[in-house]
Amino acid sequence: MPSILISTSILSADFSNLAGQIRQVEEAGADWVHVDVMDGHFVPNLTMGPFIVETVARLTSLPLDVHLMVDNPDTMIPWYAQAGARRLSVQIETCPHIYRTLEHIRSVGCQPGVVLNPGTPAESLLEVLPLADLVLVMTVNPGFSGQVFIPAMVEKVARVRRLIEQTGSQALIQVDGGIDAGNLPACYKAGARVFVSATGVFKHPQGIAAGIKALRDSVA
Ligand code: DX5
Ligand code: ZN
Repeated sequence: MPSILISTSILSADFSNLAGQIRQVEEAGADWVHVDVMDGHFVPNLTMGPFIVETVARLTSLPLDVHLMVDNPDTMIPWYAQAGARRLSVQIETCPHIYRTLEHIRSVGCQPGVVLNPGTPAESLLEVLPLADLVLVMTVNPGFSGQVFIPAMVEKVARVRRLIEQTGSQALIQVDGGIDAGNLPACYKAGARVFVSATGVFKHPQGIAAGIKALRDSVA
């Protein structure tokens, strides 16, 4: 059975019962919990901050995969490390000093990830791949859950995979946005191994466990 990791994005969770939702995610065998931090500047939405990360960290022992969609992430890196993030990913478009930013993330004890918007070329990773444990290829324009997957991103995942192979990097490729059982196999074939899903898990008509199972079964 192909080995994939499911990172459930709580952006579509029912926040009136966050503890119950996280418990179901854990019982259903999710691998990571993905927290989408948006600042209302870099993306047109405002979501969660370190307080939520700290709350989720108390609710689960699953690794927290924190996706920062914020301008000037450098000042916030220690906040999220302290709140319990295991993985901390920054959008390359927000980081003029991305090399330093990724080193900073590692220095506070988190595993660094670098995120590319749909319009950002794969090649922009070349100089920083040795510093990243995770490369996140956005498969929608960031800002909201429930958007439609951009098919052209499958070829970009393949380009990122080739760069990873060329440079001998150990980085995992993650995809995020509109991921469902229909498009997951193509992303897997192109090289993605970590799959973020909000709608596919929390809005699945048969519930959270069925949503996670549908994603896994798509490559079984
Ligand atoms: C989008 C976020 C995603 C989002 C995914 O900006 O980065 O993590 O929650 O939601 P779905 O799976 O519904 O596309
Ligand atoms: Zn995300």
